[in-house]
Amino acid sequence: MADRGVIIVEVGPRDGLQNEKTPIATTDKLALIGRLAEAGLARIEATAFVSPRWVPQMADHDAVMRGVPQRAGVVYSALVPNEKGAEAALAAGALALAVFTAASESFCRKNTNCSIAESIARFRPVMALAQRAGVPVRGYVSCALDCPYEGEIAPEAVAAVTADLLALGCNEIALSDTLGRGTPARTQAMVEAALLRGPAAMLAGHFHDTSGQAIANVEAAWQLGLRIFDGAVGGTGGCPYAPGAAGNLATERLVAHFEAIGVSTGIDLSALEQAGRWIGTRLRQTAQ
Ligand code: HMG
Ligand code: MG
Repeated sequence: MADRGVIIVEVGPRDGLQNEKTPIATTDKLALIGRLAEAGLARIEATAFVSPRWVPQMADHDAVMRGVPQRAGVVYSALVPNEKGAEAALAAGALALAVFTAASESFCRKNTNCSIAESIARFRPVMALAQRAGVPVRGYVSCALDCPYEGEIAPEAVAAVTADLLALGCNEIALSDTLGRGTPARTQAMVEAALLRGPAAMLAGHFHDTSGQAIANVEAAWQLGLRIFDGAVGGTGGCPYAPGAAGNLATERLVAHFEAIGVSTGIDLSALEQAGRWIGTRLRQTAQ
């Protein structure tokens, strides 16, 4: 496998597509995932085993997870909110799981219908299942900078949830700017607070790009030692329960940024750009 100075986690098939109103064919999702694996992405969040009533676009999670093109060195993960999701994801072949909570009580409730503490309690059986299956679990902390309902979030709140997820046994925490309105200075303060609770090697940056600041925020986190960053091909996406949030940081921009500063990503930018154009066209055709 290519030598990588940074790990790029592709969340497009999940975070990028989950907010699309028109159902996207499972075959298109699988074709996208195949193109991403082909381009050299080694970690791909393929789908979400969440309630189809809450996120209809992810209702084909089982078929997607079972259909991903197996390829040496590529790990496909699934987002899960609870034990039911974890059981189904593992049965479908997920080799990594991701749980998600928030640093904001209001967002946690809107997104998963429970408090932060209740969400953590729901993750306990998920961790037990994952441990038995020998798969790692990432923990997302949404609203690490801003909440659509509560406004600015204190870095200490992010640090507290980070500590809870690490204590639970998560191997990686994705500090997530759900709204994409963060600035480098606020990113720095938030990451510094999280670093008091866990090492840089266990922290990842997940930035949406509503204000066009995501690359600057990645840079702020990189300066503090983070080496894992999320992107969604084509800059697609947003969270259905975060009104006002635009797309994710485009993986193409993330890759171009790191390659430009001499950090190897192991990803073929031209193949990735082709995948981005392809899904953009498919989404426009699907929406018609
Ligand atoms: P609830 O309604 O409180 O739960 O939802 P429930 O236990 O009463 O279940 C309701 C129904 O869902 C039942 O079905 C369950 O069986 C079913 P019914 O009897 O009505 O037919 N159900 C499930 N189905 C499939 N898979 C499951 C599952 N669990 C229950 N795992 C729940 C609670 C957590 C399930 C719901 O709120 C939910 O699914 N929320 C997901 C919301 C979501 O996916 N948001 C987007 C992803 S997070 C995100 O984008 C942020 C992130 O990118 C980081 C960032 O940028 O901030 C990660
Ligand atoms: Mg997200």
